[in-house]
Amino acid sequence: MEVRKAVLPVAGWGTRFLPATKAMPKEMFPIIDKPVIQFIVEECLHAGIENVIFVTGRHKRPIEHHFDINTDLEKHLEHCGKTQLLKNIVEISRITNPIYIRQKEQLGLGHAVLVAEPAVGAEPFIVSLGDIVIKSEENVLSRMVDVYKRLGKSIIAVFEVEPKDVVKYGIINARYIEKDIYMVDDLIEKPRPEEAPSNLAIVGRYLFTPRIFEKIRVTPPGKGGEIQLTDAIKLLLEEEAVYAIKLNARIYDTGTPLGYIQTLVEFGLEREDIKSELFNFLKNLVAEERPALK
Ligand code: G1P
Repeated sequence: MEVRKAVLPVAGWGTRFLPATKAMPKEMFPIIDKPVIQFIVEECLHAGIENVIFVTGRHKRPIEHHFDINTDLEKHLEHCGKTQLLKNIVEISRITNPIYIRQKEQLGLGHAVLVAEPAVGAEPFIVSLGDIVIKSEENVLSRMVDVYKRLGKSIIAVFEVEPKDVVKYGIINARYIEKDIYMVDDLIEKPRPEEAPSNLAIVGRYLFTPRIFEKIRVTPPGKGGEIQLTDAIKLLLEEEAVYAIKLNARIYDTGTPLGYIQTLVEFGLEREDIKSELFNFLKNLVAEERPALK
């Protein structure tokens, strides 16, 4: 069966960024001039996904506006002759085919995915987390879809992290099958370094068979009192094989203040229009002993 749908859970509070996220979704934070969520949506579209399903909350309206048509703005840009800006705006509002579903209570990532079940139905689907941006030669989701076509089971994307960072991620225990493909034996959500079975961390891209919904329904609250997707995958393992793909990619975790700043700097250093000035600024900043402000 074709993989046509992607679920993007975007209902979280973004507490790590309060007070900025009190009225502004963290998914709308810009990486220079493009919101994080647009990177995620474009990745889905480039992989041939037809329906993007946002699992959203009451404070997330700007996301809906972002992917909507803004006729007044388009007219204004046309009038001013700002054709490139107009093209950018038009593209993102026309190509998406969004569905918005409210997660009324914030009961965890597993619960957010379950909320999307009526829109997904009984077909395989992608889950893509709204704060991880991935840069790689090949579109990661397309690669996952290809592996799914071959193996017909759920796939999790993972990457190697340093031992000190395992505490930030779901970690898998897995057996090597072939280049970059593993069979998952077990998973643990945000373990302490001494508990972690490996350094392979779940990166926020999943492809699930619809059976995951049954498993989420019976998953009890786990880490942090939340219904964890990682725990539901563990239950899925009792019935179906789950595979992991190890990514050879650059991962940008925009969900923490440090990760967000690192993302901005790296993307800035790759932009032709600002890179040399930004580079000089950073070099001078690091080299300089700045006098304290009086
Ligand atoms: C979630 C998942 C975790 C995964 C991570 C990737 O955690 O629960 O397994 O490794 O995303 O970013 P969160 O970062 O939402 O706390």
